[in-house]
Amino acid sequence: MQVPGSAALVTGGASGLGAGVVKALLDRGGRAVILDLPSSAGQAMADQMGDAAAFVPVDVTDPDDVAQAVAAAASAFGRIDALVSCAGISSGRRVVARDGAPNPLEHFRRHIEVNLIGLFDVARHAAAAMCANEPSADGERGLIVNIASIAGYEGQVGQSAYGSSKAGVIGLTLPMARDLAVRGIRVMAIAPGTMDTPMLAALNEDFIAELVQDNVFPHRLGTPGDVGALVVHFMENAFLNGEVVRLDAGLRLTSG
Ligand SMILES: NC(=O)c1ccc[n+]([C@@H]2O[C@H](COP(=O)([O-])OP(=O)(O)OC[C@H]3O[C@@H](n4cnc5c(N)ncnc54)[C@H](O)[C@@H]3O)[C@@H](O)[C@H]2O)c1
Repeated sequence: MQVPGSAALVTGGASGLGAGVVKALLDRGGRAVILDLPSSAGQAMADQMGDAAAFVPVDVTDPDDVAQAVAAAASAFGRIDALVSCAGISSGRRVVARDGAPNPLEHFRRHIEVNLIGLFDVARHAAAAMCANEPSADGERGLIVNIASIAGYEGQVGQSAYGSSKAGVIGLTLPMARDLAVRGIRVMAIAPGTMDTPMLAALNEDFIAELVQDNVFPHRLGTPGDVGALVVHFMENAFLNGEVVRLDAGLRLTSG
């Protein structure tokens, strides 16, 4: 799949890694529909980026909203070639708090609803829309990229909810690729390490500095541009399918 002229749908595209993906695609002649919360900066971003970008507000946890938003996104450029699912939340809580109270179930449920069910819901609608694409010479109709996290493999203290949601994203990538193979749609995932985005603002600066020191190399935060570059490679390299790629400078999370 070539980036120039393609139309991608990027959930969470108004901030952090999603915004980096939108920028990478537009820089290479692609077009992108930013799907993000109505309260996000998505509309302002799209206005600034011109004709190659559009914004469609959505809450990925609302199934009616998702169905309408994917339909609106598909009509923005007349097709969907790629979906990159970056929408996500992360907040840490221990299973049992310092005062002995169990973690509210709603905290766990919310992470699964946004990070896993919301991602799947957008993917099923986007995949159905991709089925209408004329296949390329190699039979390809589309690409789905799921953003997971290395916390899906090695969740730290406080990451039961977040780590479970991301383990779910890792687990669904191969079966989703197998399901959609007959349609000519590839499915890949990225498991980022410690990335420089607003999501990190909740963490203590010293803790972030320690995490970066645990990188094998280089000892810096990852950037939205690192993720954008990998998504571009996934689009261009049609032999990649059903795989989760760690983008983490070799970091293996410890207990935290
Ligand atoms: N920053 C990191 O270190 C890191 C590491 C590993 C994985 N990730 C994952 O990368 C993805 C992007 O995170 P980020 O760091 O760019 O964070 P971010 O907070 O900058 O961006 C997340 C985006 O998701 C949107 N979003 C949240 N809930 C939504 C909902 N219900 N419906 C629609 N949109 C919603 C937000 O509005 C925001 O624009 C997330 O899935 C996150 O878990 C981030």
